[in-house]
Amino acid sequence: MPSVSMTVNDKQVSGEVEGRTLLVQFLREHLGLTGTHVGCDTSQCGACTVHVNGRAMKSCSLLALHLDGADVQTIEGLADGDTLHPMQEAFREHHALQCGFCTPGMVMSAIGIVNDNPDLDEKTIRHQLEGNICRCTGYHNIVEAIGAAAEDMKG
Ligand code: FES
Ligand code: FES
Repeated sequence: MPSVSMTVNDKQVSGEVEGRTLLVQFLREHLGLTGTHVGCDTSQCGACTVHVNGRAMKSCSLLALHLDGADVQTIEGLADGDTLHPMQEAFREHHALQCGFCTPGMVMSAIGIVNDNPDLDEKTIRHQLEGNICRCTGYHNIVEAIGAAAEDMKG
C-alpha cells in the first residue's frame, strides 16, 4: 500500500493507506483522533470539518493520499494545554452545544469563518454556517458563540 506523510496538530505523521482512504478515516482509524466525527456520507453535515493548510475543509471529501505534505489541524490540536481556544471557550460560555456530536466540526468551521471574515454580523455567520448541521437545532447559541469569539479573536 502507498504511504502518506503529513503534519497533524504540529506533529509529523505517516501511514500506509489505500487509495480510497479518506482523510477522516486516516485521522480516526490510523491516528486515533476521534474528535473528528462522521455524521453523513454525503458531504453535507460538516461534522468532519478540519483545517487543511489553514482552511476549513470537510475531511470526508478529501483523499488522504492527496494530502502528502499537508498541514492538518483537528479539534484535538486547538487547546493550548488547559487553555481552550477562544472559540472553544465561547462555545462553553454560550452553551453552544447540546449532544455535542456536531460541535468539533462547528468549532473548526467557526474558526475558519472568523478568519475569513474578521468583521462578522449575525447574517453572515448564519450564511457561512450552512455547511454544518446541528440536529439538535442549537443554532441560536452557536451563532452567539461565534460572534463573541470573533470579538475575542480580534484582540
Ligand atoms: S461526515 Fe463529512 S460532511 Fe458529513
Ligand atoms: S449539538 Fe447535537 S448535533 Fe449539534
